[in-house]
Amino acid sequence: MVTGMDNKWTQLWLKYEAKKANGNDKYFKSISCQGFDYNNKILKNAVDELIKGAKGMLGVTAECGFTGCQTAEESGSTVKDSLLKATLILEKDETVAAEGYRLLEKDGCLYIKASDEKGLLYGAFALLRAVACEKTVRGMDKTVIPDNPLRMYNHWDNMDNSIERGYSGDSFFFENNEVVVNERTRDYARFVASIGINGVVINNVNVKNCATWLITDRYFEKVAEMAEIFAEYGIKFFLSLNYAATIELGGIDSADPLDERVIGWWKQKMAEVFDRIPNLGGFLVKADSEGRPGPFTYGRTQADGANMLADIVKPYGGIIIWRCFVYNCTQDWRDYKTDRARAGYDNFIKMDGDYHDNVILQIKNGPMDFQIREPISPLLGGLKKTNQMLEVQIAQEYTGHQIDVCYLIPMFKEILDFKTYCKEGADTVADVISGRTLGNKNTGIAAVCNTGNDNNWTGNDLAAANFYGFGRLAFTTALSAEEILDEWIRMTLSTDEDVVGTVKEIMLPSREVYENYTSPLGIGWMVTPHTHYGCSVDGYEYSRWGTYHRADHLGIGVDRSDKGTGYAQQYFEPNASIYNNIESCPENLLLFFHHVPYTYMLKTGKTLIQHIYDSHFEGVMQVEEMIAKWKSLKGKIADEVYELVEKRFDLQLYNAKEWRDQVNSYFWRKSGIADEKKRAIY
Ligand code: GCU
Repeated sequence: MVTGMDNKWTQLWLKYEAKKANGNDKYFKSISCQGFDYNNKILKNAVDELIKGAKGMLGVTAECGFTGCQTAEESGSTVKDSLLKATLILEKDETVAAEGYRLLEKDGCLYIKASDEKGLLYGAFALLRAVACEKTVRGMDKTVIPDNPLRMYNHWDNMDNSIERGYSGDSFFFENNEVVVNERTRDYARFVASIGINGVVINNVNVKNCATWLITDRYFEKVAEMAEIFAEYGIKFFLSLNYAATIELGGIDSADPLDERVIGWWKQKMAEVFDRIPNLGGFLVKADSEGRPGPFTYGRTQADGANMLADIVKPYGGIIIWRCFVYNCTQDWRDYKTDRARAGYDNFIKMDGDYHDNVILQIKNGPMDFQIREPISPLLGGLKKTNQMLEVQIAQEYTGHQIDVCYLIPMFKEILDFKTYCKEGADTVADVISGRTLGNKNTGIAAVCNTGNDNNWTGNDLAAANFYGFGRLAFTTALSAEEILDEWIRMTLSTDEDVVGTVKEIMLPSREVYENYTSPLGIGWMVTPHTHYGCSVDGYEYSRWGTYHRADHLGIGVDRSDKGTGYAQQYFEPNASIYNNIESCPENLLLFFHHVPYTYMLKTGKTLIQHIYDSHFEGVMQVEEMIAKWKSLKGKIADEVYELVEKRFDLQLYNAKEWRDQVNSYFWRKSGIADEKKRAIY
């Protein structure tokens, strides 16, 4: 088992391999610092990174001219000396907003200006990114302020070393029910800090067994050690909390949020926890969801549960991130009235305005569960008086398990750009989660992370583009999916234009390709139960999970209009009417909102059934094209990466063909309508 002690893991986009200098080398000869506390650990890490990057990428040994910096001490130089000759100056500048930075080239010197150390660190990484992408820094004057206050990775790691929905090996945070802290922890912190992540939850939202004990003496020491490493990279440390800890740890027979015994126990516990884990940011809570305990058990509301914990952590500056993934998972498939899609909104909207200031509701991007295409959750923006955080998933649970290539940033862009119509002029999801809509600070964006202890961190090397891209997008929402991908390729694979262009051609459309060969037009699911990889059209059709496609011999889809479950009415106008009406409903979501006959004519002039056949044949052809493109890169990128990805492409092609043939055969058999083009259907 890799425990992270053998130093074999890759350095992802922080490889610091030799690059074309384009005049950048001269700025890295000597580094100086003005206005910051030289002993600050974040500052020290920023400087170390600049030194390492300059050496690796430009072959320059930067002389660091200030005390507190190792190189300075070794060379015996003083601050005064260094200021005279410094070429790269880290300068405190109160005019730059918190966590932001300004990169300025002036009179032959390069400045990284920031008002705090985090901003400085982000500026240092931004500068290294420019060098890695071989952009010249001459004439640069660029100020970047993060768009979202909280930019988080949520890990679903278990203490036995497994990862729920992990496709890249096992956990590097836990092993044998112990917390693991080693060089890999530090590298992880460097990677995520380099893309602007400022919060990390290390354990699974399903808090069971030993993980319940993370808030006890048994683990404090190691947890605090890890939290300290994160802090040195500007990252707040969070834990997922077991809502029923009063029962499991406290020996109280209740978890009723209004019970004085429960409140008293939590007060004592939180005092201890925040004392033992300085730098703890707070907790993520999955309550009343998929068998997890919660306030509903005691006839209380979600607000009662969240507020109770929030009030207790408030004196320590803590926040409670409360998930809205609350639905009935023991549904009867015969029941056409209950609609899982409605659940998040129905369970949370009533209490809008009741959630306390340091509660944030974390809302999955869609009303179901990270499908390849879903509408945007109507809770986002629907809540008008509550802190909101968007949750997306880069762990490819339903999008190919990091076997199939699926670059998710275009999907996240769509989500962020969605107009909720909640408030004129500030109504996109991006507005809501950045705090622009409500003028609030406890907001942001989180992704369920896709890393594990595989040498390349993400199983498929190409899946690291999502790991990289999510952070970049969370920091600067206006970046395009292509810009982000471009950077990632240049930093990770190669700056060769042919490689950059070809990898972009493969990855940019990969989400649509995956959609083409899997479940059509927003209906989702049709996956193998439990694992969620591979096709099983009826796999969830007669289950308790509320995930139905309702296909019969005449048509397919779920009627969520006002004549059906009424889900479409949860949106503000005009969205509600747009979705409600089959004519105006965006066709890529048609089957999510309507039950549609196979003979229904789409705007493309194709019938629904012909669209299903065509898109599935096309999806497989597109995978074949992707593979041909990848093969053209042999010899142009590292062999190890080339070969690993090539093998995954073989599996993807097999998967795509299975999906194509199973979906097409299923609908041909149901409908009795033949493919116009008479291709092979079984
Ligand atoms: C999905 C996923 C689970 C996860 C859950 C959640 O249902 O399959 O593994 O626990 O989402 O987000 O809580």
